[in-house]
Amino acid sequence: MQLPETILVSGGAGFIGSNWLNLMVPRFPSCRFVNIDQLTYAGNLASVDAIGSESNYRFEHGDIRDRDAIRRIWEQHKPDTVVHFAAESHVDRSISGPTDFIETNVVGTLNLLEAFRGGFGGAQSRRFHHISTDEVYGSLGDTGLFTEETRYDPSSPYSASKAASDHLVRAYFRTYGLPVTITNYSNNYGPRQFPEKLIPLMILNAMEGKPLPVYGNGANVRDWLYVDDHCDAIWTVLTEGTPGETYNVGGNAEKTNLDVVHSICRIVAEELGKDSQELLELISYVKDRPGHDFRYAIDASKIRSELGWEPKETFESGLRKTVRWYLENTKWIDQVRSGEYRRWIDQNYSQR
Ligand code: NAD
Ligand code: TYD
Repeated sequence: MQLPETILVSGGAGFIGSNWLNLMVPRFPSCRFVNIDQLTYAGNLASVDAIGSESNYRFEHGDIRDRDAIRRIWEQHKPDTVVHFAAESHVDRSISGPTDFIETNVVGTLNLLEAFRGGFGGAQSRRFHHISTDEVYGSLGDTGLFTEETRYDPSSPYSASKAASDHLVRAYFRTYGLPVTITNYSNNYGPRQFPEKLIPLMILNAMEGKPLPVYGNGANVRDWLYVDDHCDAIWTVLTEGTPGETYNVGGNAEKTNLDVVHSICRIVAEELGKDSQELLELISYVKDRPGHDFRYAIDASKIRSELGWEPKETFESGLRKTVRWYLENTKWIDQVRSGEYRRWIDQNYSQR
């Protein structure tokens, strides 16, 4: 595919979106990147500081639930391509309050699809790339892998909302012929992830000698993918994937949660010159998550054989990079902890 001219990136101040922008904005100076983000608790402009003044990057504060906001941004920038990261993304939050998940993940996706379909005019629509999760497939037992043909069977309000959004995106391909692609991928980890998710939470707690809360018996399995590998996969599918197709993306790194926590304790101890046994003693088994899927594991052979993508990091190398990032970026962490990063909204928008 011809390179996109203007890419509307939704949710680019979140974990994966910010890592993607930090990689792609300098790498593709001829593309313009417009980041639309509502800056919920999970959005942090400090995560895109490094590219904030690049001439091919713009930030637009906006809510994808709000069609007028999308219209304004769409008419101003006339994107030909959409890369849709924005979502409510945390399973535990979806259990305590599902409504935002339906509104952002389903209605927000619909609004972006409608804009792309031509509702708001603009440039020729080249590609709508939707970022999704392997959680739409439900839970695996001890064996087997998720393929692109696995039946949808979501367990949590989060995964149900992502399943609904995937179906909408596919429906826009079948009904209106829009050039869409979808990636469903496994758990990501790496820099700039909000410390409510397993890996950053455990790293920060281990660094500070706080309890390490493992749900249930810690035997649940996730297939871990380093975020930069995922970002490359998204660019590959965006520019070389076939419209209407779905690609599963995984890191070939199945681990039990307990294995993950053990590795974190070992690496944090090595990096800080501490005794890893002391950190392991911080593990505390807590009440299990309701509807907790037992195992996720991805068969990534389609993207590998058709598009030549493969992950570069091993779990060990990616986890060490991640631990080092959290050790070195104390300002980012302090701002997240104190809520300081949220002041940006008050400072910039309280007068409007
Ligand atoms: P995140 O929670 O870190 O970031 C989400 C971003 O979306 C934030 O910047 C937030 O401010 C923004 N946002 C939320 N609601 C919005 C709205 N209504 N309008 C505009 N912006 C809004 O999420 P993430 O981990 O970066 O995930 C990105 C995408 O990848 C999501 O679609 C998620 O479902 C999917 N995903 C994530 C993982 C993972 O391991 N993190 C795994 C599989 C799929
Ligand atoms: P999480 O990072 O929330 O991702 P997801 O639920 O989308 O897979 O959780 C990853 C795994 O870690 C999951 O099996 C739940 C478990 N977990 C804990 O054991 N303790 C925790 O404090 C958290 C946040 C998660």
